[in-house]
Amino acid sequence: MERIANPINTALRRFPPWLVYVLGSLPFLWVVWLTLSGGIGVDPVAEIEHRLGFDALYFLIGGLAITPLRRLTGINLIRYRRQVGLVAFAYVVLHMLSWLIIDMGLWWQQALSDLYKRPYLLFGLASLILLTPLAVTSNNISIRRMGKNWRLLHWLVYPAVLLGVVHYLWQFKVIPGEGWFWLGVTLALLGLRLWWSGRRRIAAPARPVRG
Ligand code: HEM
Repeated sequence: MERIANPINTALRRFPPWLVYVLGSLPFLWVVWLTLSGGIGVDPVAEIEHRLGFDALYFLIGGLAITPLRRLTGINLIRYRRQVGLVAFAYVVLHMLSWLIIDMGLWWQQALSDLYKRPYLLFGLASLILLTPLAVTSNNISIRRMGKNWRLLHWLVYPAVLLGVVHYLWQFKVIPGEGWFWLGVTLALLGLRLWWSGRRRIAAPARPVRG
């Protein structure tokens, strides 16, 4: 039977993956513009950290949502997934650098004592550490060389996003609705992934025993 092409996927074919880098850089350029034009608010350091932190969160969750979106609606953004992931990683790095450079003034002693005083920062840092090997291996050579291990390694994105969300929620005395929303979305995406991978394992035919 001939499959009917999804018109959204047909339209998407016109957009090359590198466009994600162009669009992904816009929130950063917006922060730069607001900073330079004096429109960033009364506490520029906090506002820059805040904006870059949320940009990181949106792109991370956007990247996680690509597979469920395809499975649930047929809209296929898979060919943009690598670029979305790399843009997310860039925002985590920029967010961390905004803290280290403009908040801590690259003063390591102060950075260490801030990490000690605000343990939730360690969760953010742990997330960045987990995301680093994923960013480094997000290229065709690594995918070819690592084979099955590449897929296994990329499961790290789930604990990494959860750590990022915990880092964000821990900052509140009373978690706002928006915080619960992002936690719910992350857990739902993780739950779907686990459920589908469990079902695939059950559905896969048993391998013949050798020997
Ligand atoms: C996946 C990783 C991360 C995500 C998703 C993330 C997300 C966020 C978000 C959304 C906020 C804004 C909270 C608000 O203003 O309402 C925030 C704040 C902040 N984050 Fe992160 N972050 C991550 C990693 C990091 C790292 C690696 C550092 C540096 C060690 C860091 C340091 C900070 C700081 C200093 C704040 C401001 C905290 C405050 O004002 O008390 N984050 N983060």
